[in-house]
Amino acid sequence: MQFKKFKKNNIVETNFGLINDFKKNINSYLGDNSMFLIVDQNTVEYIDYISKSISKNIIHLVLPHGERNKTLENVSKVWDFFKKNKLKRNDTLFILGGGMVSDLAGFAASTYNRGIEFVLFPTTLLAMADASIGGKNGFNYDYLKNNIGTFTNPKAIFFDTTFLESLPEKEMYSGLAEIYKHSIITDLNLWNYLNENSNQLNYDYLVKTSSNLKLEIVNIDPYEKNIRKKLNFGHTVGHSIESYLLNINQPTLHGFAIAKGMIIESFIAKKENLLNEVSFNEIKTVLNEKFKAYLNFKIEPKAILKLMLSDKKNTKDSINFSLPTRIGEVTINHEIEFKKLESYLLEFFIND
Ligand SMILES: NC(=O)c1ccc[n+]([C@@H]2O[C@H](COP(=O)([O-])OP(=O)(O)OC[C@H]3O[C@@H](n4cnc5c(N)ncnc54)[C@H](O)[C@@H]3O)[C@@H](O)[C@H]2O)c1
Repeated sequence: MQFKKFKKNNIVETNFGLINDFKKNINSYLGDNSMFLIVDQNTVEYIDYISKSISKNIIHLVLPHGERNKTLENVSKVWDFFKKNKLKRNDTLFILGGGMVSDLAGFAASTYNRGIEFVLFPTTLLAMADASIGGKNGFNYDYLKNNIGTFTNPKAIFFDTTFLESLPEKEMYSGLAEIYKHSIITDLNLWNYLNENSNQLNYDYLVKTSSNLKLEIVNIDPYEKNIRKKLNFGHTVGHSIESYLLNINQPTLHGFAIAKGMIIESFIAKKENLLNEVSFNEIKTVLNEKFKAYLNFKIEPKAILKLMLSDKKNTKDSINFSLPTRIGEVTINHEIEFKKLESYLLEFFIND
């Protein structure tokens, strides 16, 4: 009889490289059971690839892909899958996909039977560099991004960049946006690497560097009481842009909403005298150039403001920001009064 690995709740095992090189680790999470696996319609083709490293049979559920499907209805489908296959509290769920499925199925696992363990195989750049790390999961309720969820870490994450071979270019760019964010908030060297090697990026290096940057932060502050808030740079405005575009039926990818959010929040940082003109221009120019094919959406500033007020991190009079003070450094808990913010946004959009 095989015994499953037991780990302290908040320690996540991270493995970088080919899935096949980690056969032993992966199988140690299975115990005597079949592998219970959640995929989306675009990652189902990788079941064959991972099955070569799995010693048990695989029982899987396919979810429809895309942000529109990050819904309670699909959380229910995952719970139904658990029920049908009689998953118990000591079973482990495996999730093969991008941030949408890992957030959604991670939430379903963390709430079913008061929580079953799960293991991630992130398949998008965004999920590898960002979404798989830090234990946040959830779904969109009433068109608001991730407004229902938990903090529950996976037991392990297996980072295999082979999955990126089939990822559409647009999705690669969406993931790059979060890597740029990690560079702006903590790592000038990474920012320089991205800019100097723009046409020949090494994704093994980027995934490892970016995920480790995030891991370092979330290990110190798992519940976002202090320094984890750094990761929110670009997201206060970015999430509102994402929700707004979803609402008007013109969805954009998460990374592009965040790229625009980072430009706008850098402008806000400049207006608040936190960031100098030169650094603001550098951030704006680099991001506008890198993501120029994807940032041509039209935004209604008043609608964005309204959505920011419904963000779980804000109060009714002011909005809480994490803003850059230079490239590689960010300050947290910077409150801006609502009226002032409105004037900054209107000014930004007049010149945009
Ligand atoms: N939990 C967190 O900390 C965190 C952080 C950032 C973002 N997120 C969430 O992550 C989501 C965005 O993640 P995402 O960009 O990975 O989105 P996603 O999971 O929707 O994947 C993007 C698209 O790529 C497809 N896909 C996935 N892997 C593929 C592959 N290897 N080859 C071909 N196609 C593939 C998917 O089917 C989908 O169509 C958002 O819901 C966002 O809220 C969560």
